[in-house]
Amino acid sequence: MNYQEQDSHNEQKAPLRIAVFISGAGSNLQALIDAIENRQLLGVEIVLVVSNKANAYGLQRALDHKLPAIYLPWKLREEAEARALALMKLFQVDLIVLAGWLRIFSADFIEQFPLRMINLHPALLPEDGADTYITSDGSIIPALRGLHVVRRAIEANLRITGSTVHYVISEVDAGPVISHAEVPIRAGDTEETLHERLKEREHRLVVEAIREIAQSLQITRQK
Ligand code: GRF
Repeated sequence: MNYQEQDSHNEQKAPLRIAVFISGAGSNLQALIDAIENRQLLGVEIVLVVSNKANAYGLQRALDHKLPAIYLPWKLREEAEARALALMKLFQVDLIVLAGWLRIFSADFIEQFPLRMINLHPALLPEDGADTYITSDGSIIPALRGLHVVRRAIEANLRITGSTVHYVISEVDAGPVISHAEVPIRAGDTEETLHERLKEREHRLVVEAIREIAQSLQITRQK
């Protein structure tokens, strides 16, 4: 890719160019758009929004804010990934943000973006890939991976769940953790009410995670 860690004071800083991959509502995408527009997320630019669903509301959000957005049909993974890779090069993407993206990339694709692809997962994932997570009050809860984890947290009668931002590796819902937020499960919570509360928290979490990444990578662009 066209980024490198800054090794000289003479090189010019350039914004971190992110591509946001979505499959649905795109409320996390909206949080990023708002943070950039309100100058709460400096040095970051959304250069492309990619959706595997033509009717994802997130695509509309992107266009409403005059951001490039594309529907990427996902019939044959190999073909879709080849197109995605070409898009990442064309738009000079430094960091891929999976924000409600419901497709699984191949290991070959992921390897093209070492520590340059992050995911937002609506459950608490441990640092070490274990099957359990220890919450801040010391409770041991299962690490919920895969689909329907909000519903599964309620079904498992957990008192606490949360969200995790992590780097993507070929193993699904694993990879180095960037940050967590714990969210209590209330009596009477449904999947919808709990997910809504999780998302409110996620909106801050994803902005903070990208701010940190942007600050730690001194991006330079080759002229
Ligand atoms: C979020 O809860 C995220 O953690 C999960 O999918 C949901 C996406 O929500 N991966 P939205 O499309 O950003 O509203």
